[in-house]
Amino acid sequence: MNHFSRIGFILAAAGSAVGLGNIWKFPYITGEYGGGAFVLVYLLAIVFIGLSVFLAEAVIGQNAQADIATAFIKTSKSKNKNWKFSGFMIIAGLIILSFYSVVLGWILNYIITSFGDLPTTTEAAGQAFGDLISKNIAGQIVFHTVIAGTVIFIVLKGIKDGIEKINLILMPLLGLILIGLLIYALTLDSFSDALKYMFTPDFSKINGDALLAALGQAFFTLSLGVGTILTYSASLPKKVNFVKSSVMVAIVDTAIAIIAGLIIFSFLFEAGAKSTGGPGLVFISLPVIFSGWGVLGHIISVAFFIALVFAGITSAVSMIEPSLKFFTDRFSMSRAKATVICGAFFYVFGIIALLSMTGEFKPVLSAFGKNAFDWMDFITSSIMMPLAAIVTCVFLGYFVDKELLRRIFTAHVSETVFNIWYNLIKFLVPIAIIILFLNKLGII
Ligand code: PFF
Repeated sequence: MNHFSRIGFILAAAGSAVGLGNIWKFPYITGEYGGGAFVLVYLLAIVFIGLSVFLAEAVIGQNAQADIATAFIKTSKSKNKNWKFSGFMIIAGLIILSFYSVVLGWILNYIITSFGDLPTTTEAAGQAFGDLISKNIAGQIVFHTVIAGTVIFIVLKGIKDGIEKINLILMPLLGLILIGLLIYALTLDSFSDALKYMFTPDFSKINGDALLAALGQAFFTLSLGVGTILTYSASLPKKVNFVKSSVMVAIVDTAIAIIAGLIIFSFLFEAGAKSTGGPGLVFISLPVIFSGWGVLGHIISVAFFIALVFAGITSAVSMIEPSLKFFTDRFSMSRAKATVICGAFFYVFGIIALLSMTGEFKPVLSAFGKNAFDWMDFITSSIMMPLAAIVTCVFLGYFVDKELLRRIFTAHVSETVFNIWYNLIKFLVPIAIIILFLNKLGII
């Protein structure tokens, strides 16, 4: 049987959750929203909203042991075939994978450049990053091809021999590199400043934008709204306690985001740099800092970007899996054929995404003030992911037999825990997401 072991599932789901979202995005949005207070709001969003939706996807997947569309139909009270529309979620994963692979390509580039001269000023680092994304078409295509090829190679081997195995190797290595970097950060005087920055909340910094950013990040970091967790859970044997496993994944994911934040802020503060560098924090601010640390700086730079690639690869393979399972299970397609079709899709879209940021192609590959790369990001994280999460919660709250859910949950946890979760997904989560949704669209 192509099933995860219990630990295999936890590693694979944690591998999916821990990615660029934790090591690249979390530190820079924490910096943008002023540190401690944002971290606190983010933690609340993870516990009350992210974890609830995670459990929602997990319970549907594990109970139905099927692809997204079949799982919705099977779990619904009415068994209505129209629930197959839930299969729309697979598209989001493929679109995210398209630009995620491009970003992973940039990181490959940074691993290589870490062996040579590092930029010594922010201007030089900004210029190097700008040149990479706006001028270096051939290089970006090569890197994107390497990443896409790696992802395709891994998923072709299936759940057990591909996804479970790669996570079994890369996740412990990622853990080791991060522990090494954390130990180094601990030796720096600025570690205590980083701690203070992340854990002393200044509530004057909290506004609507910060709340919504925290909520959006909670979804992205836990890989929700793409059908990934649902699909992975469909390969989780029914007897495994999915609640405990889900909580473990959320803990690992959150711990790694916090550790990445502490490492990056220690480095930044040690060099007297600002925490507000935005998306360029990792690609522009860090290399300048590393350049001041001599040989050690090069070693740390290589280790840091390798950690990012490892984290990203284990997330990337999880984005394509919902589509593969959908095609193989619903259309009896071979895994190889499904991989070729989905692989071709994200490969081509990735090339469109990277071209859309280059001087030559930007004008033709932009619309309404956004290039194709930004559109792919916007459509997935601002529209498709929240929409999928609402559909999932409303589905469970209103179209699934409550007794069935109660039975499944109380085999593992108390009645009280079940009731809390049920009320969260039935009321709080959909309302919170609708607010996020409308705000991102600029309606409120
Ligand atoms: N959770 C990943 C990260 O934090 O980088 C991103 C992600 C993975 C999003 C898988 C969606 C997904 F299906």
